[in-house]
Amino acid sequence: MKSRAISFVSAVLMLAMLAGTTAAFAADKSLYDRLGGKPAITAVVDEFVSRVAADSRINGFFKATAADPARLAKFKANLVDQICQGSGGPCKYMGKDMKTAHAGMGISDADFNALVEDLVGALDKFKVPTKEKNDLLGILGPMKPDIVEKK
Ligand code: HEM
Repeated sequence: MKSRAISFVSAVLMLAMLAGTTAAFAADKSLYDRLGGKPAITAVVDEFVSRVAADSRINGFFKATAADPARLAKFKANLVDQICQGSGGPCKYMGKDMKTAHAGMGISDADFNALVEDLVGALDKFKVPTKEKNDLLGILGPMKPDIVEKK
């Protein structure tokens, strides 16, 4: 009787350890994997750029980009690589650093917030969970001082 109780207890303990290990593995997954890898990031970037193009608050900045399909494609590919690399994925962002890329555009706080709103809209459309959404915004947010040039 006693030994049965002991083996029951050890079985429960083993299960608990196994569950703990699984949870640890889940937490160890990169943001890139949790987002769904490059196909999911590409879908979010496509949707995000469409929203920016339709957003009269900021689409003026992207007039030349939207008018040139090759430039638009390059811009999207750069965004995908940047998010892929920043989230721990197997990509290498080869574009300009954020200060150089946005120098002289006169981007304001409000412009930045509008763009983030469009990104959140895209992430919500694909039902990206709050944790992953916040993790991604946590990677992009610190770039703000290099991008915004006026209050
Ligand atoms: C965290 C926020 C942002 C990120 C991560 C970001 C990222 C990028 C990247 C990766 C590029 C391409 C750089 C290259 O060509 O080498 C770029 C270009 C550009 N960004 Fe941003 N950006 C952000 C915010 C903004 C904001 C707020 C605006 C304006 C409202 C803006 C306007 C532009 C424009 C106009 C270009 C040039 C696109 C082109 O090549 O035609 N960006 N940005």
